[in-house]
Amino acid sequence: MLRLLLAITVTLPLQAQEGPALPKEGNLARLADGAPVCGLGKAFHRGRRAALAEELGEGVFVMRGLPSCRENVAFHQDKNFWWLTGVESPDVALVMDLDSGREVLFVARPSAFRERWEGEIWDADDEWIPELTGFEEVRPVGELLNVLDEVVGEDGGRKLWTSRASSILLSGSYDVAGPYDKAREDDPLDGRTHRNEAFARKLEERYGIEVGDAWPAIIRLRAVKTPEEIAAIRRASEAAALAMGEAMRSCRAGLGEWDLAALLSWIQARHGADGPAYAPIVGSGPNSLVLHYNFTARRLRKGEVVLIDFAPEVDHYTSDVTRTFPVDGHFDEEQARLYDVVLAAQRAGIKAVRPGVPLSAVELACRDAIREAGLEHLMRHGSCHSVGMEVHDPGFERGQVLHEGMTFTIEPGLYDPQTQTGVRIEDVVLVTSEGCEVLSHAVPKTRQEIEALMAEEGVLDWIDRQGER
Ligand code: GLY
Ligand code: MN
Ligand code: MN
Repeated sequence: MLRLLLAITVTLPLQAQEGPALPKEGNLARLADGAPVCGLGKAFHRGRRAALAEELGEGVFVMRGLPSCRENVAFHQDKNFWWLTGVESPDVALVMDLDSGREVLFVARPSAFRERWEGEIWDADDEWIPELTGFEEVRPVGELLNVLDEVVGEDGGRKLWTSRASSILLSGSYDVAGPYDKAREDDPLDGRTHRNEAFARKLEERYGIEVGDAWPAIIRLRAVKTPEEIAAIRRASEAAALAMGEAMRSCRAGLGEWDLAALLSWIQARHGADGPAYAPIVGSGPNSLVLHYNFTARRLRKGEVVLIDFAPEVDHYTSDVTRTFPVDGHFDEEQARLYDVVLAAQRAGIKAVRPGVPLSAVELACRDAIREAGLEHLMRHGSCHSVGMEVHDPGFERGQVLHEGMTFTIEPGLYDPQTQTGVRIEDVVLVTSEGCEVLSHAVPKTRQEIEALMAEEGVLDWIDRQGER
């Protein structure tokens, strides 16, 4: 419930406020300085709905956003719901009549009590919602079933669609959440399905029809990014570069992996991140061999490497960057040998990217460079995955052919158990008409760049110096 004053403020152009320097356009929600924001702008989200409507063809599409949180954490919207609406508020729903073009946004029931505790919640008394979001019809969520009864028809005569995929929110990705939810459903001592599937089954019971799954259409559309989405991934990559650079400056023996994880988290937040795209991987020494290590519970020692795989999420889009560097600021001979092979492999992968080639050609280019160096036996994983609203974005299929506008990582790695050294180098690339652009290019990468940066004083050095005075 936020009254007319806001109706005026939210339509003003967004301007940067005083505060820490934000990467180029910053985080759009923060630039609005507390005023509600419609995601990447109403035109973007309207465009996504139009594209989905075209993919689905006919019938009625319905989707629910997420309810308020069950933990004491900030609310984050389901990513697919946000992608279609730009609404970052709980207890909302969307109905699209694909035949008539009617679109209805359902928002929470007004509650002064809830808002006293939680702050602004988009509700049916907020007159500014249509102008901000582009939805002409906004109703209380309690009317969702009435509207569905009306448009689907009591006889269930029309095709009905929803997304039957698990909900994903900040720090989540479908390749983790999907199997988790499936295991819970298959567990004979549990059996609960996830919220979106439960909703689809309720609709089937109510209307006596099979509810189509819109998820395959959504992931097809999400695979190729719009300019707005690319700009958001770029912002996330810039924040990643600033955080990773500071981790390099501050790194030294004796710090805990947790010190660097906390530093990354703080720097990314200063530069517009809503949170991490996944728990930061800060693996020193033997932990550099653990591909998704995220306990951050060990102290860094001289003579080891630390592998940091970390990315911010900005305006619902993520980056994904890995760098590996020597704890004491100088690559020894063996570390340098591994590093240079991984770097050469990554460069070969980047060179192989262009529209029309299969993703496997990029994988192969990385692998060939490693094979040439005789180190193929130290590989542990593939080198590419899609990136977007999720760190492992869905939509890349076996035999995927690259198209302009796709964004994905190139991240070859070598893991030597004998020396307890894992080296991985990861960047996010955008497929362009000519080849590709490395969106995370600002993250220092050559041995020379890294060693030069590590010789500088870092924030943690400065903090410790204050304590010594
Ligand atoms: N952060 C997980 C990955 O790089 O795939
Ligand atoms: Mn990755
Ligand atoms: Mn990564």
